[in-house]
Amino acid sequence: MTNQERSSHSRLEVIKGMEDFVGKNIDTLLKPINESWQPSDLLPDMKDDNWREQINEFRLRAEALPDDLLVVLIGDMVTEEALPTYQTFLNRLDGVKDETGASDSPWAQWSRGWTSEENRHGDLLNKYLYLTGKVDMRAVETTIHNLIRNGFDTQTGSDPYLGFIYTSFQERATKISHTNVAKLAKKAGDERLQKICGLIAGDEARHEKAYRLFMQKVFEVDPVEAILSFAKMMKIKITMPAHLMNDGKDRNLFTNFSNIAQKIEVYTAKDYAEIISNLVKGWDVENLKGLSDMAAKAQDYLCNLSERYLKVAGRLSFAGPATKFSWIFDREV
Ligand SMILES: [Fe+2]
Ligand SMILES: [Fe+2]
Repeated sequence: MTNQERSSHSRLEVIKGMEDFVGKNIDTLLKPINESWQPSDLLPDMKDDNWREQINEFRLRAEALPDDLLVVLIGDMVTEEALPTYQTFLNRLDGVKDETGASDSPWAQWSRGWTSEENRHGDLLNKYLYLTGKVDMRAVETTIHNLIRNGFDTQTGSDPYLGFIYTSFQERATKISHTNVAKLAKKAGDERLQKICGLIAGDEARHEKAYRLFMQKVFEVDPVEAILSFAKMMKIKITMPAHLMNDGKDRNLFTNFSNIAQKIEVYTAKDYAEIISNLVKGWDVENLKGLSDMAAKAQDYLCNLSERYLKVAGRLSFAGPATKFSWIFDREV
């Protein structure tokens, strides 16, 4: 048996050993369906007699949204809509994967429960954007089509430790992003959009808590491998899930979208640094004891990493030339 085989073998055992723990916590980490919001709760009711007034009022509010915010919201929606890719990712992880498609195992219940909650995000944002009438839906739909077809490599392979470090980071990133869009929507006077993004951010917060808790447990049971994996994931870097988005026109679509998100401070390089320090603190990396030499090196690296990113973030500037976005009929942002 090679070292790598031995290590992945024991990782599988650790993850399998957590099944009871996941089973016990699943009811607090996922919301009961009868208490959950659904997209139609937040949208004009087309079966009401006054649906025309509702739509008019809806569009009047959305009219006030600035183009930069609209572009970021579309990018966020496109990201959420690539959910098939993310469920596929969870089903690649050793010990976590759903062996039958309807397995009773706690991990399979978690991954299907997570997916079903996430499914509402893209659904709601998509319908919201469609109803605004401010978006070239065909260009946006083509982007989603391309993105799902292109896929996305988290570079975590089938390793559940890397996978849960990735998701802990990513759920916090989406929570930050949706929370900031909610704030900007309020500023623009669209309270409905504020509520929509607030609810989605609430889901992301709960999902962040879940993945961090899973990883917390790994830190308790297998601290050396946990800390080595954390350092490894940070060296690989957290690739954003929609980085292969493509509308068939703009070769730098993802970069241009991220630059706008950075410019209006929805998701920034500073946030990336903050997430690192938050995870390092949350898993109490600084105080882990009895580490091997390699793990102690990883500990040092992790405890100083956020500072290093913050220094770089302070030097970044995103005041580039305006960019045309097909999503909003080639208007420049
Ligand atoms: Fe989401
Ligand atoms: Fe999420």
